[in-house]
Amino acid sequence: MTESISSHSGTTVAANRDGEPMVRVENLHRSYGSGAAAVHALRGVSLDVPHGELVALKGRSGSGKTTLLNLVGGLDSPDEGRVTVGGTDLAGLGEDGLLELRRDRIGFIFQSFGLIPILTAAENVGVPMRLRRTDPKEREKRVELLLAMVGLADHAAQRPGELSGGQQQRVAIARALANRPALLIADEPTGQLDAETGLAVMELLRAVVRGEGVTALVATHDAQLLDLADRVLELNDGRIVEQV
Ligand SMILES: Nc1ncnc2c1ncn2[C@@H]1O[C@H](COP(=O)(O)OP(=O)(O)OP(=O)(O)O)[C@@H](O)[C@H]1O
Ligand SMILES: [Mg+2]
Repeated sequence: MTESISSHSGTTVAANRDGEPMVRVENLHRSYGSGAAAVHALRGVSLDVPHGELVALKGRSGSGKTTLLNLVGGLDSPDEGRVTVGGTDLAGLGEDGLLELRRDRIGFIFQSFGLIPILTAAENVGVPMRLRRTDPKEREKRVELLLAMVGLADHAAQRPGELSGGQQQRVAIARALANRPALLIADEPTGQLDAETGLAVMELLRAVVRGEGVTALVATHDAQLLDLADRVLELNDGRIVEQV
């Protein structure tokens, strides 16, 4: 595994090393099923996500956005093509390597928040650090800092069911940042929120990408979110059709 991403330093990870992008996707193909029933979700997708940028991925339902994000995040593997994250070719990582990549280098944010219902906001944010056996004192300090960063310092003891949708998504963003990832992957993070709350969550993501030196790849239909992106890519039927 290369050392081109330091999972311990949120600032150095954004450094542009040798002009390499944070994410490089080359000629990616992914089909589901086989024969006549096969669905070609991705048909040769190539793209770069430069360090420190917020790149939005748009496209109608079924165009392949989630499929692409899953491949970039190492949750799935392609039929053909290559994904490189921070200079590391995901095909060269075994199961353990992929697990480490997802735990330490990538923060995931989902439309449905994905918080654990029986844990408090603070405990949810702490989960990725527990998985990495971070020292409890250090963990508590970082949880506090992250909750303050997302504006929820006063809600640390509340469980997801006691928080609004926007607040839950803020907790999810704090959790995604817990292990100082180099890359955030968000799949329609504002999809379950009203326009105003969605904008607030989007602005938080924008601020995090600027302030924390993190890179983000975000699938969205949200026009407000698209406005805040550094660049917008459009998928249509498994192909990139537009690069702005
Ligand atoms: N596990 C699966 N098995 C079979 N087909 C799948 C699977 N996952 C996705 N597909 C198909 O692949 C295509 C792309 O799906 P994908 O979920 O990537 O689209 P999307 O752009 O994320 O859509 P949405 O905006 O609705 O979330 C669709 O035709 C979908 O039905
Ligand atoms: Mg999707």
